[in-house]
Amino acid sequence: MDFDNGLIHQEGRLTINNFLPEIGKDQLRNNIIAGLEKNPKMISSMFFYDERGSEIYEEITHLPEYYPPRLERTLIFKSADYLKDSLQDHDIIELGSGDCSKISIFLDSLSESDISSIRYVPVDFSQSAIVKSAEMLVEKYHGIKVLGIVGDFLSHLETIPNGKERLFIFFGSTIGNLEVEDARRFFKDLYETMGPGDRMLIGMDMVKDKEVLEKAYNDSQGVTADFNRNIINVVNRLLDTTMDPNDFEHVAFFNEEKSRIEMHLQAGKEHFLEIPGREPIWIREGELIHTESSHKFTNDDIERMMDEAGLVIEKIFTDEDRWFSLILLGKQ
Ligand code: AVI
Repeated sequence: MDFDNGLIHQEGRLTINNFLPEIGKDQLRNNIIAGLEKNPKMISSMFFYDERGSEIYEEITHLPEYYPPRLERTLIFKSADYLKDSLQDHDIIELGSGDCSKISIFLDSLSESDISSIRYVPVDFSQSAIVKSAEMLVEKYHGIKVLGIVGDFLSHLETIPNGKERLFIFFGSTIGNLEVEDARRFFKDLYETMGPGDRMLIGMDMVKDKEVLEKAYNDSQGVTADFNRNIINVVNRLLDTTMDPNDFEHVAFFNEEKSRIEMHLQAGKEHFLEIPGREPIWIREGELIHTESSHKFTNDDIERMMDEAGLVIEKIFTDEDRWFSLILLGKQ
């Protein structure tokens, strides 16, 4: 990988590269149409995160029922305490770094001399999030070097620099939003990418009481419902349609067989979507559109998946109820 290729910013301790191919409106449009032409219909959860969707997601992370961010935070402290003496001269690579708020908890546990020996590499789809957070971190942590990468970290792990020992970090249990096959492929790719001393710290949401799980995705203030319905606004903008999000009902339940929360939108009335140059799309009254899967794991699932990929579990940090885990992985 030629790292000068996508260079968009270099100043002092901060470098930013963009490896994301330009994705045109046509490609996004085709992706949505293909999903709505499937039976059952689906819309990829990547369409949740327009500006408004990202704001609503931020609200979700503060909801009393949505336990993962709260639990993960306490586990970040624990894991940082465990790892802090072994990170000298490392690259710390955070996949899906967002606003970098979680890594700050982690970095706060490190000594000043360790901080100035490490390079922090945030990787995210959003260039504005990378630029903003990277600038903030260089300012906050004296001596730290930051290499921001704008890219698709799920399928392009090879865009991540190699050379030093690396700690990969993947907070937030986003791995659960992948289809099972894609998650398996991710861990196999990770195995290929990792050198002998490299490790990964990854957040995974655990199987628990169905009631607790379903409340987390059906909060009493209706914020998750707004998040789900907002995807209709994104579809309208891309397909030039005029559906009213309020004509769809938020449906979220735990599918025990597949060990996942499924979110759907249920049409309260029928819709005909006229799309120039295409057959119209018919959404029947009562029809469900699948918008997200959020897989929940057992310790056995995790062990099996890591074993298959050739990864070794060094340590599991979990809360007393075992609702959420941060797993520290190495290579066999
Ligand atoms: C981003 N991801 C880990 C969240 C989850 O729990 O699967 C997305 C989310 N959907 C509804 N609430 C939160």
